[in-house]
Amino acid sequence: MLRNGVKLWGAGGILVALTMLAVGCGGGNDNGGGKTIALLLPENHTPRYEAADRPDFEAKVKELCSDCKILYSNATQDAAKQQNQADAALTQGADVMVVDAVDAGSAGSIVTKAKAQDVPVVSYDRLITNSDVDYYVSYDNARVGKLQGDTLIKGLKLVGHPTGPVVMTAGDPADNNAKLFKSGANAALKAGGVKIAKSYDTPGWNADKAQNEMQQAITALGNNGFYGVLAANDDLAGGDIAAMKSAGIKPSTRPTTGQDATVAGLQRILTGEQYMTVYKAAKPEAGAAAEIAVDLAKGDSVPSDLTNQRSTTGRRTSRR
Ligand code: BGC
Repeated sequence: MLRNGVKLWGAGGILVALTMLAVGCGGGNDNGGGKTIALLLPENHTPRYEAADRPDFEAKVKELCSDCKILYSNATQDAAKQQNQADAALTQGADVMVVDAVDAGSAGSIVTKAKAQDVPVVSYDRLITNSDVDYYVSYDNARVGKLQGDTLIKGLKLVGHPTGPVVMTAGDPADNNAKLFKSGANAALKAGGVKIAKSYDTPGWNADKAQNEMQQAITALGNNGFYGVLAANDDLAGGDIAAMKSAGIKPSTRPTTGQDATVAGLQRILTGEQYMTVYKAAKPEAGAAAEIAVDLAKGDSVPSDLTNQRSTTGRRTSRR
């Protein structure tokens, strides 16, 4: 059932779909076909990157530019490796780089090096902070956190503990999105009067680390010291739920949020173990990034209907 953009998903679970945000900050100026486009993704333990972002991006590039070459690399959650992959892409003649950064701060040097060679950079999904990126394509990430927080409040009411307390396993602090998800969730929980008993920033979006964090929280709070879990994505939710199960807590009694609509997350929703997930479709996001990248690589101007907002630096930005 689809109502107000919220899809109710079996077993009381909820899947929420968002519309995509693209932000433009400038354009390229070379001409010609047969260009080289580099796509740098951050990790491969979260299913979306290899299963959706990469193939969707590659398909759109091929559709728009059959003789464009794609240089693909996955940094497997290693920021230094991503720097090397970016250097290699420049050496191999990338005309544009689309970067989903492992580390929002240190990836600034990827942008600096690319710009020094007049290679434009599209910041993909995660913003590379304090850097002169040409375009930023993403979802409204604070809204993702708000949807998680608001929906968790509904779940807490259902289990009879409307103000929690809850445990939070937020994402990797090096990922700017994690900060946005967390601020959106914190604001929603605060507005709902929900107490957060323990909050963790989970390095590398690592499910095993989330499981350890949840174990620590259960040890500190006791099995009945919390009544819901704000997990920033489905992988972290999986770790949290595993920790609850090994402590003898029935996950269906502790509504747990998620993100990405992974197969594992959806299966947990169907069995009642996970309460919700937020789905951000990869196809429009990867497709918009591919369209911008092809235009920049060829030196064509990026169509204005692709971007419609202004960045803080006063340049053009957009919502689709
Ligand atoms: C993405 C999420 C993803 C997480 C872990 C975030 O930046 O927006 O979709 O689950 O990174 O890779």
